[in-house]
Amino acid sequence: MTGPAMKPESGAPSGISFLLNGSAVRVEGESPTRTLLDWLRETRGLCGTKEGCNEGDCGACTVMVTDAQGSKSLNACILLLPQLQGKAVRTVEGISGPKGEPHPVQSAMVTHHGSQCGFCTPGFVVSMAVAHANGARDHDDQLAGNLCRCTGYAPIIRAAEAAAAEPVPEWMTSDASALAELGASAVPGAFRPQSGDELAAWYAANPEAVLIAGATDVGLWVTKQLRDLTPVAFLNGAADLQKIEREGETLRIGAGVTITDLRAAVEDLHPSLAEMLRRYSSTQVRNAATIGGNIANGSPIGDGPPALIALGATLHLRKGDARRQMPLEDFFLEYRKQDRQPGEFVEAVTMPASAPALRCYKLSKRFDQDISAVCGCFNVTVEAGRVTEARIAFGGMAGTPKRAAMAEAALMGQAWNLETVQAAMQAMAQDYQPMTDMRASAAYRMKAAQNMMLRYFHDLAGLPVSVLEVEA
Ligand SMILES: Cc1cc2nc3c(=O)[nH]c(=O)nc-3n(C[C@H](O)[C@H](O)[C@H](O)COP(=O)(O)OP(=O)(O)OC[C@H]3O[C@@H](n4cnc5c(N)ncnc54)[C@H](O)[C@@H]3O)c2cc1C
Ligand code: FES
Ligand code: FES
Repeated sequence: MTGPAMKPESGAPSGISFLLNGSAVRVEGESPTRTLLDWLRETRGLCGTKEGCNEGDCGACTVMVTDAQGSKSLNACILLLPQLQGKAVRTVEGISGPKGEPHPVQSAMVTHHGSQCGFCTPGFVVSMAVAHANGARDHDDQLAGNLCRCTGYAPIIRAAEAAAAEPVPEWMTSDASALAELGASAVPGAFRPQSGDELAAWYAANPEAVLIAGATDVGLWVTKQLRDLTPVAFLNGAADLQKIEREGETLRIGAGVTITDLRAAVEDLHPSLAEMLRRYSSTQVRNAATIGGNIANGSPIGDGPPALIALGATLHLRKGDARRQMPLEDFFLEYRKQDRQPGEFVEAVTMPASAPALRCYKLSKRFDQDISAVCGCFNVTVEAGRVTEARIAFGGMAGTPKRAAMAEAALMGQAWNLETVQAAMQAMAQDYQPMTDMRASAAYRMKAAQNMMLRYFHDLAGLPVSVLEVEA
């Protein structure tokens, strides 16, 4: 175990307790940053869960995790053991029945020839079983985080479709009711606050600590950078940080809200944002990743900040009992440098519940499961034919998520027409000096960003602009 000993949670026994394939386990003596994947394979001999990329990209390590909120698929390679406290895990070995009966998705994979070399198959089967249990029918989205090199996706999708009509096996429904028996456990070497208040007090006293929310960024510090992270605090036990609240015309999103839950919350309110979030990595990553982590990480290519900045979102920070707030764009000072003090954390973000003109466009090399090369978000208000408010923000165009101040100025007060939009496109060249990297060249980024402005104009006019809608 690494890290200093910490005060155990009030009288709780030491260890991490969870259900593994239906049986209670207590893990002791492991580092708090031990991944579930390594633990399953190295200590339990459960080698059906595969290691492909070890960074959340391929889905070979997919496991099913159930808690009071339901069942979700997660990538075991970037899932740290303390994140499982009080939950139920099913690996591919636990997807079939106690007497070896195949799960309907397993039978369908055989019938529809969904497996060739088979390396990806356990991950697919678990993702399919979770979707099956949840009654999800959007198979392409459910499986976008599972990569297959040899079979091809058509037989796998056919298998998922065929299994959908079959009932959920009884053994797949028993975990939720057994969770209550697990009780509390203390995780040595890691702090697990149960509320924002507990986190605030502890973090103010331990400002050097690493906060871990979904671990979709931090997990890679462990698996790829081999960093020793101590001390650490796991935020997923703080239920109050996971709330989504509507206060009049304002939506308050707790820092611990996952991208999956955010997407569901904005589906009707901000459909363009919801559609962009559908392409935010994969189902497995969205199920873990939080909006607080996405903001605090300060990545110039994160998808959340440009949309929230275009919406005019306010960031809420907390240190001990002191709270402060700021327009989200002011949080990002320079590349990877944010306006956050030691011991201060992201508590929530608030945004308007309505913004009919908001549109978000994500450009990435792969359509699904890829980081943006450019992400442009537009929110322009037009009254009596003239622009009265303009908020435009981009990711991938600067060292931080950044507003297009010159382009906005070129729009303000002008008639909303093609000429004005073209002037804003020209002005955008003064807003950004994008870089060239493996995702895109500087010139391509600039051209793409300017063309997104044009796309926005046509989009508001009601023309089809999505590659999923445009027909040759
Ligand atoms: C395969 C893969 C694909 C991805 N694709 C995308 C994508 O398409 N779009 C995109 O935007 N991102 C993507 N990401 C990046 C990542 O998913 C996001 O940045 C994510 O939102 C981070 O949230 P988290 O909860 O996992 O953060 P964590 O990894 O837990 O933490 C990230 C950082 O934030 C800090 N932190 C977490 N919560 C708080 C808090 N409340 N207050 C202060 N600091 C905090 C942590 O200490 C750490 O520095 C991808 C990641 C992977 C692995
Ligand atoms: S091993 Fe590739 S996502 Fe985990
Ligand atoms: S069957 Fe070989 S990678 Fe999918």
